[in-house]
Amino acid sequence: MKGRPFDLFEKLYADIDGRRARTPIVEVPTDADIRLFVKREDLIHKEISGNKYWKLFFNIKEFLTADMTEPMLITFGGAYSNHIAAVAALGREIGAKTVGVIRGDELRDKWQANPTLAKAAENGMAFRFVARDEYRDKEKLAAELREEFPDALIFPEGGTNDQAVRGVQFMLDERTKDFDYMCCPVGTGGTVAGIAKFAEAGQKVVGFKVVRDGSLAETVFRLSGKDDTELIDASFGGYGKFDEEHLDAVERMSERFGIPLEPIYTGKMFRKLLELTGEEYFPPGSKVLAFHTGGLQGFVKTENKE
Ligand SMILES: Cc1ncc(COP(=O)(O)O)c(C=O)c1O
Repeated sequence: MKGRPFDLFEKLYADIDGRRARTPIVEVPTDADIRLFVKREDLIHKEISGNKYWKLFFNIKEFLTADMTEPMLITFGGAYSNHIAAVAALGREIGAKTVGVIRGDELRDKWQANPTLAKAAENGMAFRFVARDEYRDKEKLAAELREEFPDALIFPEGGTNDQAVRGVQFMLDERTKDFDYMCCPVGTGGTVAGIAKFAEAGQKVVGFKVVRDGSLAETVFRLSGKDDTELIDASFGGYGKFDEEHLDAVERMSERFGIPLEPIYTGKMFRKLLELTGEEYFPPGSKVLAFHTGGLQGFVKTENKE
């Protein structure tokens, strides 16, 4: 280890304004009478991608103390969780032990074939594979883990909590203030809640739900205190599911925008967003900003697979 966890963390997140300024906002073409821009939050860090970088910030900052020598971070996620990948990468950067509680015990012997889990393991994460039934009761699992690892930081699936929402404020800056609409993909709701909480009065926040979860509106309201966030279904067949038609659509958008996209979060957001522009959802002349929230590490193109 090249330093103490606390110092390494401070170094990683040093110069927050500089890091914000470094994520470009680029305009991309549409056929509609609006101007569409993308904030490349995916470029903030090569492995702690997009929204994850900021969602982790206060969670870790409040946990670490200057004299900790080997902190432990424990969290939950599915096999394609970008949050799992981000926690593992952050643990490696600061010299913290990481444990991922993974949904589905069928993965125990085949996780190596999953790019997200393989990368997390390479970054030092240890896994606990849990049967789906058991995984549903995360409170019970967390209580057991707290007993086993009393000093560890145990945080929720997707990293969504009040601290995560606080961190999302750093996705916004001077440049984001004059957009009429701000858009992002929605999984557990923390990111869109943070954008809504810290948006300027009059800015409309639109979340594109890639999961079918009837409780999301309530979660976003609880976390943001705002009740005017628009949540639109963009699940296209269900979370994590996609067919050839979707992959083609994502590839076409990616080429047209000149920006890499993946099919599960950003691909679904942009596909739905372009559908909406065709239906004149955004009034003519609107300035629309969509956040690229990363997640590219989980999507390895077949031609790159050995
Ligand atoms: C790439 C990407 N975009 C968006 C999201 C959604 O973020 P949230 O869970 O805060 O709604 C996630 C995580 O779930 C993600 O990995």
